[in-house]
Formats: sequence, C-alpha cells, structure tokens
Amino acid sequence: VATRTPLIAGNWKMNLDHLQAIAFVQKLAWALDDAKHNEADAEVAVFPPFTDLRSVQTLIAADKLKIAFGAQDVSTQESGAYTGEISAAFLAKLDAQYVIIGHSERRTLHNEGDDVVAAKTAAALKHNLVPVICVGETAEDLEKHGPSAVPVAQLEEALASVSADSDIVVAYEPVWAIGSGKAATPEQAEQVCAALRESLRARLGDAIADRTRILYGGSVKAANIAGFMREPNVDGALVGGASLDVDEFAGIVRFRQ
Ligand code: G3P
Repeated sequence: VATRTPLIAGNWKMNLDHLQAIAFVQKLAWALDDAKHNEADAEVAVFPPFTDLRSVQTLIAADKLKIAFGAQDVSTQESGAYTGEISAAFLAKLDAQYVIIGHSERRTLHNEGDDVVAAKTAAALKHNLVPVICVGETAEDLEKHGPSAVPVAQLEEALASVSADSDIVVAYEPVWAIGSGKAATPEQAEQVCAALRESLRARLGDAIADRTRILYGGSVKAANIAGFMREPNVDGALVGGASLDVDEFAGIVRFRQ
C-alpha cells in the first residue's frame, strides 16, 4: 500500500479580498514556520477566490512558501465567448496546482450536474491541474440510500474523464455536515472514504486507488481533525469556515500534535 502525504486544504469560498488574502498567507507561513511544520507530515493548500489568485501566487513564489494553491471552480470550456468564465489554461498559467470541482454549493446553487463535473475534471486534467473532485450526500439521500451510494455514484460519473495515470484528489463532503457544525463521525467518514477508494480501484486499478488522497470535509476544526486522520482511508481535510482563521487552520495542519 502506497503511503499518501495528507493534504489539508482550505476552501475560502467567497471570503477574504486580495489584501486580506496576502495578510492571511503571510501569517499562515509564519505560523507553520513557528510550528516547524514538516511538509512530509501534511501538504497545505489554500483555495482563494479567483480575484485573489494572482496575489497569493506572487507571495508564494516570491517567498518560496511551502503552501500550494488552487481555484474553487473552472470552466468546462477552453476559450472563447464564455462571459465570466475562467479557463483551466488561465489557472495553469498562474501556477495553480489544484482546482475544486463539483463542490456541493456549485451543484446546488448553480445546478451543476455530474456531466458538468466530468467536463470540468477533463478540462483540469488537460492542463495538468489536479482536480479536487467533491462528492457527498444530502441528509435526505442518506436516509433514502444509506451512506455511500450517492457519493460513489457521483464519483463514478466524474471518473469518465479520469485515467489510471491521472493525478486527482477526492473530497467526501456530506452536505449535511457542511457549515452546520455537525461533522460526520470519523467512522462515518471512513466508511464512505473506503467505499470511494474501492470504487476507484474497481474502475481504474490498484495504483490510482492506493495513491489518491481522499479528504473528508464538513465542519472540520482543530478540535476534531485528529479523529479523522486516524482513519486509514481519510487522507486529509477540505476545510471551509475553520480555514479562515490562521490559528485554527494551522491547528488543523498540526493534527499530529
Ligand atoms: O469545501 C469545504 C466545505 O464545504 C466545508 O465547509 O465550513 O463545514 O468546513 P465547513
């Protein structure tokens, strides 16, 4: 079994303007430095709004910070008459490593179906961005279909454009746990993350199943991260609210302490 470097990712959603973003990344770098953070223990990534990406990229490059970054969404299209859209090529040119795809807020508020998620995943991979493919069930889905059926079905649709040598991240975010303060239990997260890994294995083979990081997201904070990280199939977290506070986020990164 391959060892996977945990990934602690902060999805800022529509928060922090570019000046706040600069201050945040600078403080985060100091906090990680103070804590003598070792990259082998966890990779750290932030996902600022599009308008902050340039500022964050400049700061990370100038100070050679050990912080990765990505965007929160990407267009399905290459280029052309798509007012308001941002292409994967633009993100790649900014040195973004990651892009979040299919977050439940995009699925719900912007009607993104599994076909759109698959197309965005293809666009990201084409430009060597690592898609962070988000899946998760609503409370109603959970009641009707049990814990894994909906997230696994969503992942399988997204995998249409993924091959055995693709570099992807999967994020399991139960919709009922997002922003609710009611995180899944580590056992619940493990059950679904294990099912997602088995689905990857069945479709694309052992190598990708063993190396792909599967994150849990939904009301993660410094006080509950350690429990999730003890689970064998949970390889990190996609953090929303708690990623906006430097000390709290740094506390999540230091889940081993
Ligand atoms: O993408 C992360 C997210 O949806 C979880 O949000 O605020 O529950 O950590 P939060």
